This record gives sequence, structure tokens and C-alpha cells, in this order.
Amino acid sequence: MLKVDVKSALMKAKGDKVSGSVYVRSFDYRFTKSGDPFVTGYVSSQGCIINFKVWREAIEGFRSLIAVSRVIAISGVIDTWNNIPSIVFESVKADSFGYTPLDFLSGYDRDKLEETFYGVLENTSPKVRSLVNKIIDGPVKDRFFTEYAAKLLHDACPGGLAHHTIKMLRLAKTMVDNDDRLLPFSDLIYVGVVCHDIGKVREFCMGEYVKNSFISHSEYGCEMMYEIKEYIVDLFDEAFFYRLLSIIRGHHHVYEVKAKTVYAYIVHLIDMIDSQATMFMDNLDSHAYKEMVNGEKPTEHFDEIYYY
Ligand SMILES: [Fe+2]
Ligand SMILES: [Fe+2]
Repeated sequence: MLKVDVKSALMKAKGDKVSGSVYVRSFDYRFTKSGDPFVTGYVSSQGCIINFKVWREAIEGFRSLIAVSRVIAISGVIDTWNNIPSIVFESVKADSFGYTPLDFLSGYDRDKLEETFYGVLENTSPKVRSLVNKIIDGPVKDRFFTEYAAKLLHDACPGGLAHHTIKMLRLAKTMVDNDDRLLPFSDLIYVGVVCHDIGKVREFCMGEYVKNSFISHSEYGCEMMYEIKEYIVDLFDEAFFYRLLSIIRGHHHVYEVKAKTVYAYIVHLIDMIDSQATMFMDNLDSHAYKEMVNGEKPTEHFDEIYYY
């Protein structure tokens, strides 16, 4: 049995049949307002993602299969809500037909990522490169170049973390080149970009949250810096160390951990540009082909999509 082609499933009409193997990226057990249990979640393939639902008698089958594997075989029917399609699983089977999760993910090539990452770093100072080599080393290096940037939202595939970081390094260079006022902080901004999400190597294992991940990658990132505090203080100084912590801790700029320094806020903005733009483009890839243009007819052309 073939994999379900998620991109073409997104283009199907309500009532169309779908069958094949799927990779279940996430799922949740919920209740309707009238108390009926159902499962909702997402299946993905090669960068495209589609919602699924499981109702009534199919729920128990889903529950027992998903405990064993995220790759399952389904047959279902397309439903739509607010013009957004989902697959209603009518039956589920354990047989994954030899597929593994990696067969559904469009990961980045590790050698190419490494070449690009170290190539971009050539624009930075020798001290920045020394510190990056100290941090991205041994097991951390393996994890950095293979881990996801997120569970679902952006660059959610093998190598996504390094890919997101590379894009941010390029944006950071543009910002530093565009505004001389950032020049005195450029070392801090580059190291901050490399380290802002480095805690994800402890928070995730191939895009899945692991034990104690509730503490967040910001906190794990700070923990990793404390482990080499002496090295950082010797290479730069104590102020650099605490300013770097301010970037890692405040880069999401939310709740009680808002960015409290100029460099933390700049890294937060760069992070937002890349993550939000990537999510927006991924969403277009996934379902905006079905969106209405000027309230009239659906389009299949990426450049005709009207964003409002
Ligand atoms: Fe982050
Ligand atoms: Fe990030």
C-alpha cells in the first residue's frame, strides 16, 4: 500500500476517499460539547500537513495502534470545515508497509548543512568561531545538525534546528551590515543566534519532547552555557557571558522572560522573521491553495494567494 499523498489529499473535495500509510505527527483525545469522544491531530508527508479526526468505534483501534507506531495504514474520507480539509479515519490498521517516520520527512542533508553553517560563520570573528566550536562539538554537534527546530511549527524535520540557525545567521549579518549601531554587539548577536535554540538538543529527540522538556529549551540553553562559563568568561568577559544568557533566556520575549537587553530583542526579532515567514510559507504549501482569492474562486497558484 502506498503512502497517503498529503499534498494531493489537501486538494481533494469533501467526500473523496483516501487510503494508504500515514505518519501521525501529533494527536490528542478530546470531547465534543455533547460529550462524544474523538481524536484530532495531524499527519504529515514531505513538508505538507493535514488535520485528521477519528470518531466513535475507530477510536479504540487508533488508541492501540498508536501506542506501537506513529506510522499506520488508514482508509478515510475527506471532510472540510471553513474550507480547510481534514481526513476522517474510518478504519486503521497496524501494518506500516515497511515505512518508517523518516520516509515521510523531508529532512536536510547533514553534509550540506555543515558546509553552509561553517561557511556563514567565516564572516564572524575568530573569537565567535572558537566559542561556537566549543559549544557545537562532540555529541552536541551530532544533535545540532540532526534535530528538529520545532515539533510542528517551522523547520519541523531532521536538520531543521541547524537550518533555522543558518537562516538567522544570514539575517543577523544583514542587520549588522545595515546598522552601525549594532557593530559593537555583533559578536554577541552571532553567538546569541547560534545558541538561542541550542537547548533544543536537550528538549527534543527528533522533534519529540523528552523527559523534563517542560523546562524549555531557553532554560536548557542557559544550563549548557553555565557548563562552560569559565571558557566563555576567559574568551570574552563576564559581561558577555551574562548578556549571552539574556539572549537565550529572553529570545521568545513572552511572559516573565521578556527580552531585557538590546541584543536579546534583536535576536528575538530575527527569530520571529524566520520562524513566522517559514510557518506562513509552509501553511501556503499545505492548504492555502484551497483558500478563496478575493472572496471568489479557489486558486492553485501560489503567487495568486491573497493574504488578509
Ligand atoms: Fe526558541
Ligand atoms: Fe528560534
